[in-house]
Amino acid sequence: MKNRSLVSIDDLSTDEVLKVLDDAAGFEKDPVRKLLEGKVIATLFFEPSTRTRLSFESAINRLGGKIVGFSDAGVSSVSKGETLHDTIRMVSNYSDLIVMRHPIEGSARYASEISSVPVINAGDGANQHPTQTLLDLYSIRKTQGTLDNLNIFMVGDLKYGRTVHSLMMAMSRWNTTFNFISPEELKMPEEFKLYLENLGLKYYEHLDFTEIISRADIIYMTRVQKERFSDPIEYEKVKNVYVLKNAMLANTKPNMRILHPLPRVNEIHTDVDTNPKAYYFEQALNGVYTRQAILCSLLGIK
Ligand code: CP
Repeated sequence: MKNRSLVSIDDLSTDEVLKVLDDAAGFEKDPVRKLLEGKVIATLFFEPSTRTRLSFESAINRLGGKIVGFSDAGVSSVSKGETLHDTIRMVSNYSDLIVMRHPIEGSARYASEISSVPVINAGDGANQHPTQTLLDLYSIRKTQGTLDNLNIFMVGDLKYGRTVHSLMMAMSRWNTTFNFISPEELKMPEEFKLYLENLGLKYYEHLDFTEIISRADIIYMTRVQKERFSDPIEYEKVKNVYVLKNAMLANTKPNMRILHPLPRVNEIHTDVDTNPKAYYFEQALNGVYTRQAILCSLLGIK
């Protein structure tokens, strides 16, 4: 993967995905190694983030690399009107790799075409979030012992949730059964359903999942993405449609695990947090190991 950008999960072959997961397992056992000594990584966050930015920065620090960048575009020359084109031209002169989050779909692909160094898409609008997907795959494989033949429930905002778009594309490689649970207004977009149809894969859409919850291997909860709504009244209508509560988990499979890319608002009640099936905080920790593996892979470091 040396000198390649990671913009979409489909930029990686299945062998490359599995190699990242295997390397991440190595970093989980031994996370502090000076493999990025002498490297400068730029983290450009044009949108808010806690986990993605800080887990990348933790990963870089543990590997001995240095970080430049911003967590608020308002403190950069973007606030003076500098274009994304010029920002990327400049920052690629100052760094060995760029990690970028941006609100516009397609911005990461555009940046990768301008940049002289690899670009990692840390989320581009409602489009994709491939490094989240790699940590999700790591978490699924770790908890289920396999990626094959799983029944995945994706719940909540399937329209604007970039994490479910990337994860659906990735899991389509392992004969997954997909159950999409959302209100009408937040259904999985047609282009992603077409992606599955073209592969001959089945998916099922539901408004409610209480009657079928016992079938799930993974329940992937998502937040309704308030920041993507142009009309606040539309957000108010759907914001509390799904709230997962501990009492709902009584008849679930013993090995079922609940994932969430976080941040959570109120779609998982806090009474779920102490249930052994809740895995979302461990999932976020897995982001450090997975991002260590991704950085080393794109920089060609063994
Ligand atoms: N999962 C995720 O992308 O979280 P942040 O928005 O906090 O980075």
